[in-house]
Amino acid sequence: MKPVRTVKPVSPERMPALLRAMPKAELHMHIEGSLEPEQMFALAQRNQLALAWPSAAAVREAYVFDNLQSFLDIYHAGTLVLKTEQDFYDMACAYFQRAQADNVTHTELFFDTQTHTGHGLSAEVVVNGLHRACMDAPEKFGMTAALILCFLRHLSEEAAFECLEQVQPLRDKIVGIGLASSEQGHPPEKFSKVFARARHLGYRLVAHAGEEGPASYIWSALDVLKVERIDHGVQSMTDSTLMQRLVQDRIPLTVCPLSNLKLRVYPSLTQHSIGRMLDAGMVATINSDDPAYFGGYINENFTQTFAALQLGAQQAYQLALNSFNASFMDATERARHIERLDAVFDTF
Ligand code: ADE
Ligand code: ZN
Repeated sequence: MKPVRTVKPVSPERMPALLRAMPKAELHMHIEGSLEPEQMFALAQRNQLALAWPSAAAVREAYVFDNLQSFLDIYHAGTLVLKTEQDFYDMACAYFQRAQADNVTHTELFFDTQTHTGHGLSAEVVVNGLHRACMDAPEKFGMTAALILCFLRHLSEEAAFECLEQVQPLRDKIVGIGLASSEQGHPPEKFSKVFARARHLGYRLVAHAGEEGPASYIWSALDVLKVERIDHGVQSMTDSTLMQRLVQDRIPLTVCPLSNLKLRVYPSLTQHSIGRMLDAGMVATINSDDPAYFGGYINENFTQTFAALQLGAQQAYQLALNSFNASFMDATERARHIERLDAVFDTF
């Protein structure tokens, strides 16, 4: 592996500008978690639905969470306003526009069809709306975008098989398969057969593991599900053998600091382990998870984390480089993104 370049130090006052200016990939963002309350109200009106809250401000006030489950309950209520292909298209475009302002140049969006088929929509409505937005993203928003379908782990493996079958006619519109929702009590191995099937069908594989759940879930995501990336993975810091494995096999971790803060995985960002992960040589990346719910898009995650942990330009470069290396884009495209990253660090 080529050694990572050493970049010039940048003063703490100029770090927010550098973090904004550097191109980056976002690899852990649930598109339903980008639905801002104002857009929720607009969609409710368009689809002639009533919301449980009187205003967007009241919705935001409800966003106080004790843990992952307390968030998921509200998050699922928010998805009820999505009804048509155009709704999914518009939601994705709103995220792309926001991400473009943060200099995201590539993104791999998580979505789940089970939430929506669970209240009567077809999988095609979801996939076609999101895919059309991804196709328009280069021209409209200056970024490339791909889709990763997450199974909901609180449901059965049989339900995940059904979900996979439903999207088979749409196979070419989806790059990968992931695993999300309530982690505790739903270990990765619950989905061993359906992940084996997805692998056979040629999907790239990822899974949420070690967000709230134990390090053993990260081991089984790697060894049973055979995923290529771990989403969150912060609990790996409790297991030094696992840390060594992640470093040795260069397994990327899509870490989401503001999510960890809001869901009380860490009491404060000053306690967050992302700095220690980088020091250990882990391929960590920074992402926003559900930005409309957790108080910030990707740059807010970068700037708050860098301020809390007093990280500098070298870590910024490493994180952006990791984000492109961890992505599922092809080698030529990856080189093009990294060239643009290098150009920013050459001149900053
Ligand atoms: N779905 C949306 N956000 C999630 C998270 N942080 N963990 C698990 N499932 C999710
Ligand atoms: Zn997530």
